[in-house]
Amino acid sequence: MRKHYFLLTIIFLTWSVVRAQERIDVHTRNMSLVFNVGADKKLYQSYMGSRIAAAAVPADTTVESYPQGGGSYLFEPAIRMVHADGNPSLDLRVASWKVDSMDTNVRVTSILMKDPVYPVSVVLELRAYSREDVITSKVLIRHDEPQPVKVSHFASSMLHFHADSYWLTQFHGDWAREMHMDESRLTSGIKIVDSKLGSRADMYQTPAFLLSLDRSSSEEEGEVLAGTLAWSGSFQLLFEVDEKDRLSVAAGMNPYASDYVLDPGKTLPTPEFIFTYSNKGRGQASRNLHAWARSYGVLNGKGPRMTLLNNWESTQFAFNEPKLDSLFGETRKLGADLFLLDDGWFGNKYPRNDDHTSLGDWQENKTKLPHGIARLEKAAAAQGVKFGIWVEPEMVSPKSELYEKHPDWVLKLPNRSEHYFRNQLVLDLVNPAVQDFVFKTVDDLLTQHSGIAYIKWDCNRMMTNEYSPYLGFRQTNLYVDYVRSLYAVLDRLRAKHPSVPMMLCSGGGGRTDYGALKYFTEFWPSDNTDAVERVYIQWGYSYFFPANTIACHVTSWGKEPLKFRTDVAMMGRLGYDLDVSKMKEKELAFSQQALKDYRRLSGTIGQGDLFRLLSPYDRERAALMYVDADKKKAVLFGYVLYPRYGSTWPPVKLQGLDGQKSYRVREINRYPGVHGVLVEDGKKLSGEYLMKVGLNILRADALSSAVIEITEE
Ligand code: DGJ
Repeated sequence: MRKHYFLLTIIFLTWSVVRAQERIDVHTRNMSLVFNVGADKKLYQSYMGSRIAAAAVPADTTVESYPQGGGSYLFEPAIRMVHADGNPSLDLRVASWKVDSMDTNVRVTSILMKDPVYPVSVVLELRAYSREDVITSKVLIRHDEPQPVKVSHFASSMLHFHADSYWLTQFHGDWAREMHMDESRLTSGIKIVDSKLGSRADMYQTPAFLLSLDRSSSEEEGEVLAGTLAWSGSFQLLFEVDEKDRLSVAAGMNPYASDYVLDPGKTLPTPEFIFTYSNKGRGQASRNLHAWARSYGVLNGKGPRMTLLNNWESTQFAFNEPKLDSLFGETRKLGADLFLLDDGWFGNKYPRNDDHTSLGDWQENKTKLPHGIARLEKAAAAQGVKFGIWVEPEMVSPKSELYEKHPDWVLKLPNRSEHYFRNQLVLDLVNPAVQDFVFKTVDDLLTQHSGIAYIKWDCNRMMTNEYSPYLGFRQTNLYVDYVRSLYAVLDRLRAKHPSVPMMLCSGGGGRTDYGALKYFTEFWPSDNTDAVERVYIQWGYSYFFPANTIACHVTSWGKEPLKFRTDVAMMGRLGYDLDVSKMKEKELAFSQQALKDYRRLSGTIGQGDLFRLLSPYDRERAALMYVDADKKKAVLFGYVLYPRYGSTWPPVKLQGLDGQKSYRVREINRYPGVHGVLVEDGKKLSGEYLMKVGLNILRADALSSAVIEITEE
């Protein structure tokens, strides 16, 4: 008791009471966000951009930083609340603020705002990561009114700009066509990029964007804000250009159908909006986010990743113990670290032989696996490979023992028939009993089988039937509370199993966000593994996620040569999902060597700085490279897609090297018996030459590709 009292005193003392016209500045190495507290004690944004001395910024009171609905603000508010007495307005004044230094790199600025009349407080919390040039923003909403209030808008952040023009790059798609990149000029009024999918964030739209100011930015030039929301459910990115051509950008959970009923004394925390600003183009913005992600955003972001063989593409649901034994052997033969057993291993009353049954019945299917997972662990270990397994614990098939036993555990509208997607339903995760079940499903797997070294956590549908039998009259809390419940389960799981690698999957790339990624080591970007498609899809993800988080498998989806497919998969975390037994001798030898080379280079690919050199969106070729922090090692990738007849390509100029150093350039991943592409293969060249003249890595032929290892010598 005394200890708590002491702690409260310390916290209280660190908050400094605010003075009018006080400046609150949040800086990273190259970026500043400056606020000013007006004479009215309202919070104004005075500046957002490249680093500036706060004293140089006039104490401006034109643009309210986190505007509230219901008062005199006439645009889309950051927050709106209906009080217990029905008053639909909020009036936030800064009461105090504080800065906590977490270490030499991270400073947290907390600005406490209060309503002078109603007992409501909102803390705007900005976490500045100096080295990485990243700021995260979230708010904590709390009240002590006698009855619950309804919060109908709850942006994690609102940023304001005044530029000549605004250029929004958004990413959108569908199953198997994720991350299509599109740029458009923002015009007067509102543009919303959002999703209402509930249990996944992105499928049609992605919770991430690039915003260029004054003109469209390039990789190396221009002012650009890159932002992404750490939230795995319905989200909203809102861009509003007002009558004076000023732009406000609000990012947060989607307010759609989500008037949040907040009890007295409880806090509603919003997810973090993660952003970086660069005046040196998009490339720098991506490198900032990657560096942040590896240190703070992704589980074990700096650790190694395992290569693997997955069986989804080659067997689908049709396997048994002898088949898996042979696949363990093929994993070893190939030289991958781990075998990943996908969907289809469970269900007895309703065996999982297709996608119509069994989700929820997480017991080994006795026909396919009479000796259970225990035998598989041993058999994999006997081959010297690790073993991983697929689960989809948030879902239930209507044909399952779980559904029969707990029909009240699913999201289901009263008086309406059930709506299925992939023949399944979403469990009512806000129900604590369901949370226990989901936790136990994964916990049991990991506790009972020490040989499980990897989990693929899938989520194959969005939310419909949006009604939680558990929530009763608070149905408008469902979208928000579902995701919070998911994180609560993942928190429990990670407390007990802190380091087991997990892949975040959602019927392809339906969940690719930093809200979930702090529990996961990597994500599945798309079920589409056609290598040409993957050049574009992986290109899109590369704006926000580092290569070691992007799982890339060589499969038989596309008709590209094996070399091309392998070179594309090597840009991320390399894996395989094809029938190794059908590989010809040369194909196997090539793949074995590729895995060996990848092992040597995965540190540079996963941890290095990314430079996107030639965009596939410009012409039918692409090139990018990764460079180690000490600039001693780099890996360059080049691809020719489907060029027009007679297309020729000049040498590709490299970036990120040290102009004073000399480098040996060596083409790897050469297919046995086929000429390499690199004209300068084996030469020692200066960094200056490589960056000013470049390397000839693009051939005229369609679907040719090259991987070049660049080593200081
Ligand atoms: C969707 C995933 O994206 C696939 O990789 C595979 O795991 C299937 N689900 C299994 O049902």
